[in-house]
Amino acid sequence: MVKPLPSFKTLRLSTSKDVRSQSIRRAARLLRKGELVAFPTETVYGLGANVFDPAAVRKIFKVKGRPQDNPLIVHVHSLQQVQFLATSLPVMFWVLADRVMPGPLTVVLRKSSAVAGIVTAGLPTVAIRFPDHPVAKALLREAGVPLVAPSANISGRPSPTRAAHVSEDLDGRIAAIVDGGNCRIGLESTVLDLTRSVPVVLRPGSVTKGEIEKALGIRVRVGRNTAKRPASPGMKYKHYAPQGELIVFEGDRTRILSSMKAFVQSMKGRRTVGVLAREEMAAHFKDTEYISLGSTGPSDAARRLFAAFREMDRRKVDLILCEGFPEESIGTALMNRLRKAATRRIRV
Ligand code: TXA
Ligand code: MG
Repeated sequence: MVKPLPSFKTLRLSTSKDVRSQSIRRAARLLRKGELVAFPTETVYGLGANVFDPAAVRKIFKVKGRPQDNPLIVHVHSLQQVQFLATSLPVMFWVLADRVMPGPLTVVLRKSSAVAGIVTAGLPTVAIRFPDHPVAKALLREAGVPLVAPSANISGRPSPTRAAHVSEDLDGRIAAIVDGGNCRIGLESTVLDLTRSVPVVLRPGSVTKGEIEKALGIRVRVGRNTAKRPASPGMKYKHYAPQGELIVFEGDRTRILSSMKAFVQSMKGRRTVGVLAREEMAAHFKDTEYISLGSTGPSDAARRLFAAFREMDRRKVDLILCEGFPEESIGTALMNRLRKAATRRIRV
């Protein structure tokens, strides 16, 4: 007889005021028992597991379909926990901790023996983040152990920025999802390597290179990503991508608009085309699948981008045209994600 696959009912735990502490206690209990629980952070939803439970950590790789050589970020709720996970904390760490922790910055440090090799994919370093989200903080405190948490999506899919996205990818595979509404930032944290004399930004995020330099009073480097030598193990994989083909238009705004319009025209009747662009562009794409990236610039677009990718997939759009944004503040991280997801870039 064929054994049926274990079928899981993934719990959805609300964080509305009346049930919040109960949900957090329940989620923490599941985590301590070795289960996987997704939870909100200010960047994207994370898929949590007890860092000290190797079987639970292994499950993360399995349910996400994540390559074994891609290390995980360890989440903490205090700087004391960092001291337990890392050795020889450099002065630069304390300066940054003072300015941007808790917050959307992950730092790579030398790992202590408390961190198992499966967490760091065998590396001698560990990535650590102190998230700034009330639910994440409360859950970490209640769990009593640091939590490894990659973004709570199937590997290669866009990171989830609301609980429904986590459900889409992981329902039936994980114990619970703590629903904390929409993520405030919408792109993953900045990853900064502090193990060298000059820090290196491995992944841009909402904490910018400029802010880090200002805090530290020195110049930092940006990890260059080549297929052969990725800045960080995770950066060599195609990421964040919608199922449809994605073309990013970069350059002058007026020219972006006219070339996107021309492109839409030329594809008429041939492909299902979708447009991702600022609110002001809506009127030009009335007969097209159009999703607004907001009206306030890169931070609004960052918050909406991954949800828009998923929505385009749901609408079965097979060619997405996306407007590029200026590379200032979070615009640098936004363009990094867009370029990584894109099949083609057009400069106008
Ligand atoms: O905002 C975030 O960072 C979210 C939330 C949930 O905290 N997490 C997240 O995790 O984006 P993940 O696993 O999707 O991305 C972690 C990135 C990967 O690119 C990985 O290669 C890199 O961090 N990383 C982890 N440990 C590292 C290490 N020891 N050295 C260099 N890079 C590391
Ligand atoms: Mg990820």
